[in-house]
Amino acid sequence: MTATTRIAVLVGSLRADSTHRRLAEILAEETPAHVELDIVDGLDRVPFYNEDLDGADAPATATALRERVARADRVLALTPEYNGSIPAVLKNAIDWLSRPYGAGALVGKPFGVAGATPTPYGGKWAHGDTARAAGVAGAKVVEDVTVSQPAVGIDVTTDAELRAKLLEAVAKLVEYDAEAAAA
Ligand SMILES: Cc1cc2nc3c(=O)[nH]c(=O)nc-3n(C[C@H](O)[C@H](O)[C@H](O)COP(=O)(O)O)c2cc1C
Repeated sequence: MTATTRIAVLVGSLRADSTHRRLAEILAEETPAHVELDIVDGLDRVPFYNEDLDGADAPATATALRERVARADRVLALTPEYNGSIPAVLKNAIDWLSRPYGAGALVGKPFGVAGATPTPYGGKWAHGDTARAAGVAGAKVVEDVTVSQPAVGIDVTTDAELRAKLLEAVAKLVEYDAEAAAA
């Protein structure tokens, strides 16, 4: 029997009709049975990171976020791009996940990032910034998982090619072998 791999999916959009949340839901339905996706959305419920709030009495939403990511074997950020960079709620989540310094929930976690935006660049700056921030926070960024899909003229929630690319990205993230990559 194949062991279950749990992936925490951080959704960078808060919109009720977010295409990135919808893509997370589609992936949750379509990944193989041994892959479990925990969709972490509503990231605006976590307050802005503030060292004065952090510590033993950290806000419950921040603690819950840390616990969900700590329980995961892998982390995938599905995110749009805002003004050439990472949406603030996603950056804020990474900031909470980066502490305690050196022992945050992202430390050592294989991490991928993907998204689809209606420009020829597909959100690549946001995805690059997300990967950099997660890497600084201690995650093992798996570069070849990244999908920055130009979504000009396609419906991202029904496009078969995009769906296949994202499923392949999830498979690569699941298969990533940290020890082999370090050798
Ligand atoms: C404030 C704002 C800024 C944006 N800036 C960019 C951008 O710099 N690059 C880009 O590719 N798309 C940009 N977009 C478009 C979003 O990437 C696009 O709306 C995306 O589909 C939203 O994802 P969602 O459906 O999950 O909310 C921006 C959208 C908003 C609302």
